[in-house]
Amino acid sequence: MMRRYYCTAGAGMEELLVEEVKHKLFATEVEQISGRVFFCSNAHLHTMTQLKSAERLFLLLRKAAPISLPKNAAKAAVVIQQSIVGDANIWKQSLLLWKALQTELQDRQQHGQKRKREREEDDSLNAVANSTHSLSSNTQLGKELNQQSISFRVSCRCSGVIARCYTSQRLSRIIGMAIKEKLKWKVDLREPILEVNVNVSDDHCIIGMPLLKHPLASRCYMKHNGLRSTIAWAMAYLCPKQLNNCVILDPMCGVGAVLLEAAQEYSNALFLGMDTDMSQLQKAAENVNTAGMEEKVQLLQSSAMEIPLTSGVVDAVLCDVPFGRKFSCSIDMPTALPHLLKEMERVLCVGGHLVLLLSLQLSAQLKKIVCKHKCKKHANSTDAHCVHTDPSNTNNECKDISKTLMCHKSSSEISNTPMFITSLQAHRTHKVSLGSTDAFIHIFTKIQSDINTH
Ligand SMILES: C[S@@+](CC[C@H](N)C(=O)[O-])C[C@H]1O[C@@H](n2cnc3c(N)ncnc32)[C@H](O)[C@@H]1O
Repeated sequence: MMRRYYCTAGAGMEELLVEEVKHKLFATEVEQISGRVFFCSNAHLHTMTQLKSAERLFLLLRKAAPISLPKNAAKAAVVIQQSIVGDANIWKQSLLLWKALQTELQDRQQHGQKRKREREEDDSLNAVANSTHSLSSNTQLGKELNQQSISFRVSCRCSGVIARCYTSQRLSRIIGMAIKEKLKWKVDLREPILEVNVNVSDDHCIIGMPLLKHPLASRCYMKHNGLRSTIAWAMAYLCPKQLNNCVILDPMCGVGAVLLEAAQEYSNALFLGMDTDMSQLQKAAENVNTAGMEEKVQLLQSSAMEIPLTSGVVDAVLCDVPFGRKFSCSIDMPTALPHLLKEMERVLCVGGHLVLLLSLQLSAQLKKIVCKHKCKKHANSTDAHCVHTDPSNTNNECKDISKTLMCHKSSSEISNTPMFITSLQAHRTHKVSLGSTDAFIHIFTKIQSDINTH
């Protein structure tokens, strides 16, 4: 049976997920719709757990045309039996595949645990106890499935026309009853072996089984959550060049989500996180420890308005600039943005990249600041404060973070004069959803530009 899956993704992440499944899973028959990506792959389930842009992973049972239901529950049940449950054999085959994938994953985890134990030279008694435990849970699952006593629960989401007559809860119940009748599976709302997810909208009816207990997007290395892991990863991924053997800075790092996602992507880079808030830095330190990245990530209490680094020593600046009400900010961001950008630009080396996550409002302001033509217009004006690459600062050798910290060289005081930045070239802008609000990821490259040529 062909293994067909789908992943859910936040708005704006689908395109990146398509790239990821093609690249990491060698997926075929990839299809993207809003909030979901469908694909076929023979990759191991463990490899699929490495997807970074996805929210959840499902085994696809059916992707069908939208259904319309009569208001009468009994009649609706008949339609659901035919249109949603359909052929019992498909469910049985999917269940077998689901089981095989679970066993595959458990074997892999068991193997991983064993290898870890061997590496740590654990005592043999411990090894026996642990492997027995894993085996028994595996056998238990096998037994339960073999006895055909599958317990399940339905999680249904409906939207569009159908949602006017049926709540998701009511539809879940009707679909659950239909599955129970057809397949003789047991309903268990609390601790089912299997979950059946149904999504009914005006465009489609999608049925799947989640393959993992936890969402792919909840990272085991994040003890304290910050920016959505998928968005934080996208900021690192969208950087146009490979950042291995590079220095990467997040001057407003919070609990370190962006740094840790970047660290997953670029294993040979050095990371530097700064924040003014000590409590954020403490959480960041705990996250770094949980991820086992102490050697690679350094944290420092410092203001992004005055980055304690010499100019041109950083290869990439990734920054989730505070906006909205979640983060109290000592500075007024719209006022501070030009100065903040100037500081980030200053520490970047020529050829380095600046990746910013900004609100729509701050994005509009950004456009006015990073604008060559405006700068040309103001090039000889005493009103405009243009920032450009200092050719004497193109030395990329100063990569030892501790050394660079010593050579603090901040830019000028915050000024009220209009400021334009000429040395940043816009590379790409990507719109993403943060749930309650949208934002843009902006990617710039620092080019060696001479103000006089504009
Ligand atoms: C949007 S949050 C960053 C969230 C981060 N990406 C995470 O995952 O936790 C912005 C951070 O900027 C910090 N901050 C505010 N003003 C700052 C400044 N002047 N310099 C450095 N950090 C600042 C806040 O303490 C907050 O942790």
